[in-house]
Amino acid sequence: MQVQLHYKNVFKLVIFLGFVYLAYLIFFSSSNDVMPIIDVELRDVVSYAVLGVEMGGHAVAAIHKENKLSIQQKGLTDEGKAELLTKADLVSNKLILDVLKRFMGLKIVSEEHESPSVTDEEAEAYREDRYSLWQSIRGSIDVLPSRRVRLDDLQVWVDPLDATQEFTEGLTEYVTVMVCITQGDDPIFGAIHRPFHNETIFGVSNWGVMTSSGKMIKPPKEGEAPPTIVVSRSHAGEVKSLAEKAFGSGYGVESAGGSGYKTLRLVNATAEVYIHETAIKKWDTCAGDAIVRALGGAMLDMDGSPLKYGPSTSVVNKRGLVVSARNPYTYYQKLRGFLPGTK
Ligand SMILES: *[C@@H]1O[C@H](CO)[C@@H](O)[C@H](O)[C@H]1NC(C)=O
Ligand SMILES: *[C@@H]1O[C@H](CO)[C@@H](O)[C@H](O)[C@H]1NC(C)=O
Repeated sequence: MQVQLHYKNVFKLVIFLGFVYLAYLIFFSSSNDVMPIIDVELRDVVSYAVLGVEMGGHAVAAIHKENKLSIQQKGLTDEGKAELLTKADLVSNKLILDVLKRFMGLKIVSEEHESPSVTDEEAEAYREDRYSLWQSIRGSIDVLPSRRVRLDDLQVWVDPLDATQEFTEGLTEYVTVMVCITQGDDPIFGAIHRPFHNETIFGVSNWGVMTSSGKMIKPPKEGEAPPTIVVSRSHAGEVKSLAEKAFGSGYGVESAGGSGYKTLRLVNATAEVYIHETAIKKWDTCAGDAIVRALGGAMLDMDGSPLKYGPSTSVVNKRGLVVSARNPYTYYQKLRGFLPGTK
């Protein structure tokens, strides 16, 4: 009798614990914990990312065209220009996110916009024909290596419009749209699209770098790049004196807009180092980081560590940047003694 009661209690207890566990799963755990582990083909995620970046870029170019028209016709005030900028930024962001959200379960990191978002109708006007665009990029993506990755290890980083200041000034040369895929802490795929030059550069870790027209980009050879350091337009002065102390007078400093643009200068070996001294958001660096890594370079912070992109890290890198597509640690070592706050 006593034994029977005992079993009954145990049985009730088991049922009770079962319900508690179920309640825990439903109410307290994040969806990732209960989601089964899903493997995906990296190339599939890449195809969404590239489609997104090209659609965003198309919108940026189209809105710029209107901007120019309205400046000519109406003589836009600064406020009017700012409105068009916001529009380019928001429409590009919306079109890219619309594409990425079609990939179920993909985590997306993008700048949060406080201003009211654009409506579907507004964005629709700038949506390029998805299918023909898709066909035009499919060929280049097929060349990329096949790789299985765990979906819940991935994050996709979106920069819908890099070099916004330069965009408002009509310096379209510097403008890029970027998407990047990270796996844990590491960027494994980056795409930098130049909307005013109809060009996208992709980099895949442990594989290489390619242009949208299918041309492979080789890592720069020793002595190939001129001794040029690229820096942002607002910090040229400080970096110039730092570079003179660290590298000697043989180096020239060139100021340029946009993190994407400055990284591309390293990729085509028209500059050797890119230095940034202030805080920078990681969606500004991620795609370029993936690309320089694929060439054998790195983006280091002022402590000499490669940037980390894992979900538990901050989206802002406050430690500056020393970037090179070739021998980044050598440049970092030279700079090290002259950095503010280091011995
Ligand atoms: C852009 O380049 C792609 C190939 O790189 C080409 O198929 C497409 O026609 C070009 N578009 C324009 C508008 O030049
Ligand atoms: C190198 O890349 C930059 C940025 O994409 C571009 O503006 C420049 O024309 C390129 N130069 C050469 C020689 O390819």
